[in-house]
Amino acid sequence: MQQTTHNSNDNTPSIPRGTRVVIFGGCGYVGLKIAEELFKEIGYSVLLADIMPPPQASQWDYALCDITNSEALEALFVNEEKKFFTGGQNKGIIELVIHLASAGMSGKGMLDPATETINVKGTQNIIEACVRHDVKALVYASSYNVVFGGQEIFLGESATTPYFPYHLHTDFYSRSKRIAEEMVLAANCANHSSLMTTSLRPAAIYGEGESRHFPRIVAHMDNGLFMFRIGRATVDWVHGDNLAQAFRKALVNLHLQHLNPSAASKFPSAAGKAYAISDGTPIDSFEFLRPVCEARKIPYPSLVLPLWVAIKAAYIFERIFLLMRFLIGSKWVPAPFLTRAEVYKVAVTHTLSIREAQRDFGYQPTLTTSEGAQRMGHFYALKEGEFTNAMKLAVTFEILILAIQIIIAVFLICFSLSNFSNAYLFFLKILQLRVAQN
Ligand SMILES: NC(=O)c1ccc[n+]([C@@H]2O[C@H](COP(=O)([O-])OP(=O)(O)OC[C@H]3O[C@@H](n4cnc5c(N)ncnc54)[C@H](O)[C@@H]3O)[C@@H](O)[C@H]2O)c1
Repeated sequence: MQQTTHNSNDNTPSIPRGTRVVIFGGCGYVGLKIAEELFKEIGYSVLLADIMPPPQASQWDYALCDITNSEALEALFVNEEKKFFTGGQNKGIIELVIHLASAGMSGKGMLDPATETINVKGTQNIIEACVRHDVKALVYASSYNVVFGGQEIFLGESATTPYFPYHLHTDFYSRSKRIAEEMVLAANCANHSSLMTTSLRPAAIYGEGESRHFPRIVAHMDNGLFMFRIGRATVDWVHGDNLAQAFRKALVNLHLQHLNPSAASKFPSAAGKAYAISDGTPIDSFEFLRPVCEARKIPYPSLVLPLWVAIKAAYIFERIFLLMRFLIGSKWVPAPFLTRAEVYKVAVTHTLSIREAQRDFGYQPTLTTSEGAQRMGHFYALKEGEFTNAMKLAVTFEILILAIQIIIAVFLICFSLSNFSNAYLFFLKILQLRVAQN
């Protein structure tokens, strides 16, 4: 007989320990955080499914699985069932699924149509496998980008903030995350299936050990590339610990409804809904980096590049990237120095409310963004000097490519402007960099 544990939410039934959860894309920073949280807080049995292996010291079960390959997915579910029926290793049938697997969040992938294959086709495959194998709950990692595409948003509620129009997205990642989210939500109890689904939209993710964005930002700082800010905007961030708590609570909300449908009517349901997840303490997007600047002993940039200049520059970088990709192939072209989607993310105010997540499944961030930023500062102060070899080489290469891109960009701008006086005025405008008041 399985032991049971109590949910931290009051008035909810108990849930069985050892329930099998598979986390697709579980070997990244977020996946490992969630695995830890699910095991420690609930006693769920975690299986990570990913195309890359977990870190060596990982304690979790792991299966190599590409979500774009529906046969590989099927094999994963069938293998788990076999283990269950033969009683081997005390592993259960997969009852719950968290889907984090994704591509194209930054750099080249944003402009690569293959991103849609992974994010959309992969999600479709996961939904179909969940339905075929009678999975109870699926929690999907969406993104703020499904509603944000460069327009200002002030504490928007998820239920009432409209999706950003497909055709206006400037990158494949955001568009594909939206399509995938709609598929996940539409699958909630669809066609009499018992699968319940919910979608969490994380703000920009950070935390000690985050490996997607921060090491690169810090390497740029160390190499003197953090010279200016762009625009002035207030944005949300989410620390990995807060995000893991949100995933756990959303998953448990759905699980409890299966375990005890009569009790389920007594608490709000997350099924079929989307939720913004952040620390709940919006902050100036560049101010957030100040503690890390101090830790790395580099001056906080006082120059502010106007948004319109950054957008025009990003547009040109994107075009050059596409042109070079066409000419010499994707493999050899480095990522554009900036993309418009990245500029909008840091330079246009967009904040979403976490009130719905608090109300429906008791999400309660334990760390504010200012506290989290201080922790990042301490983390990178201790890591002093660690980015001097491979990273430095990569950044040097980037500087070289950037220089080439700038030369081509200047050439293209001059070429496209109808006469010399227009070109002269254009460069005057670009040089009007505002010096910050403070
Ligand atoms: N990092 C952020 O700031 C941010 C913000 C909002 C939303 N998100 C979303 O959160 C989720 C997790 O983000 P992350 O930062 O941990 O990303 P990550 O890249 O670190 O993790 C994604 C994981 O998916 C795996 N993966 C990629 N393609 C796969 C495939 N075909 N099959 C199986 N696994 C595959 C990768 O190997 C990786 O381990 C993603 O869905 C992302 O879109 C991230």
